[in-house]
Amino acid sequence: MDVLVIGSGGREHAIAWKISQSKLANIIFVAPGNAGTEREKKIKNIDIEANDIDSLLLFAKEKKIDLTIVGPENPLVSGIVDRFEEERLLCLGPCSKGARLEGSKNFMKEVLVSANIPTANYAEFDKAETALDYLDHQKIPIVIKADGLAAGKGVVVAFSKNEAKKAITSFMLDKKLGSAGSKIIIEEFLTGDEASFIVLTDGDNIIPLATSQDHKQRDDNDKGPNTGGMGAYSPTKLINKKMNKEILESIIKPTLEELKKRGITYKGFLYAGLMINKNKIKVLEYNCRFGDPETQPILLRMKSDFLEMCFKACEKKLNDFAVEWEKKASVGVVLASGGYPEYYKKGYEIKGIPEDTEDLKVFHCGTKSKDGKILTNGGRVLCITSKNEELDKAIDLAYKAVGKINWQGSFYRSDIGQRKIN
Ligand code: AMP
Ligand code: GLY
Repeated sequence: MDVLVIGSGGREHAIAWKISQSKLANIIFVAPGNAGTEREKKIKNIDIEANDIDSLLLFAKEKKIDLTIVGPENPLVSGIVDRFEEERLLCLGPCSKGARLEGSKNFMKEVLVSANIPTANYAEFDKAETALDYLDHQKIPIVIKADGLAAGKGVVVAFSKNEAKKAITSFMLDKKLGSAGSKIIIEEFLTGDEASFIVLTDGDNIIPLATSQDHKQRDDNDKGPNTGGMGAYSPTKLINKKMNKEILESIIKPTLEELKKRGITYKGFLYAGLMINKNKIKVLEYNCRFGDPETQPILLRMKSDFLEMCFKACEKKLNDFAVEWEKKASVGVVLASGGYPEYYKKGYEIKGIPEDTEDLKVFHCGTKSKDGKILTNGGRVLCITSKNEELDKAIDLAYKAVGKINWQGSFYRSDIGQRKIN
């Protein structure tokens, strides 16, 4: 099969790399890809941005691509799958209406409430004045969320009224996030442990993937601003077999059924961000895609043929696919550019990237090649991913590799995989 993977991050490097191992894979194009995908066997980067749906469609038609896999949320929310399917091209991901689960927090909450799925109490606002009035009567901490896509910048957990006011003002009046912040929700603050629960569905059948936990804050001990994710590990002890079943039966299935009632058949990856407190599970968010960096440790543990799995999801045949995982634990540590998640510079030469081994894989997130060198090209730059029978040993292996890599201003968290579970 000839495959097109859309995106340029660590998630897309991991997806393309895993697919390249399939006996079904002929060539894998990545649009636009990065210096990591460029160096893989069977993988070729093409110079088309992930949001340029017209050019991607033209490319897929010209090259007679057998299957397209969409990594990031933006093209999904913009309707890339609808466009590809109109042209009878197989494309893995939800249609634009399904992708609204991530594209609009209001829509997501409405779906959860209609389906009686536990989630934080909330109220929605389209006027700053009413939002500020409402805030006056609430307790802190409180959470302010922009309705639309905001590349990880749309959620503020406010520990003072002043901080909450600032968030409302910057989203709704100063338009810091453009139209994404013209509507907001104000949400009750939840406590507990967070986990990522990701499934692949063909619209009818659902396959839960290995569980994982992400580390969203920039600094050790979960301090500092939120990021796209500074590292992840899989599996997480937080979700046992019984809870796995409960999440599937009382969260994922009712969500997909509620969407069906609204005329939406959801196909593709569905990522539930969960808050777990004393075995009570609430949904914090839905993403309409695979997680980044969760994909990296999850796929390093997958024994099955991932390309076959993705193909079967598009063909509505997931009922005859059984996914298998290595018993090993896996961890992915992100190396980031100084200044991330705020302003950072690009273009520094990266030195010391170790060779991949059976248990260690360096996934590139924000890199590009120039004159044979590998340069930084984003906030999150590399994700050093490793596996071992014991999580502690996987962590050691990853950090040994991390210690060898450097460029001007690089930084990482030193506690990935070591979150204490309350
Ligand atoms: P979201 O994009 O909605 O997952 O929010 C990003 C991060 O903000 C989450 O991973 C949580 O760490 C935090 N967060 C979001 N909503 C809440 C909430 N209601 N209570 C506590 N923390 C939250
Ligand atoms: N790691 C969080 C996300 O993919 O949104």
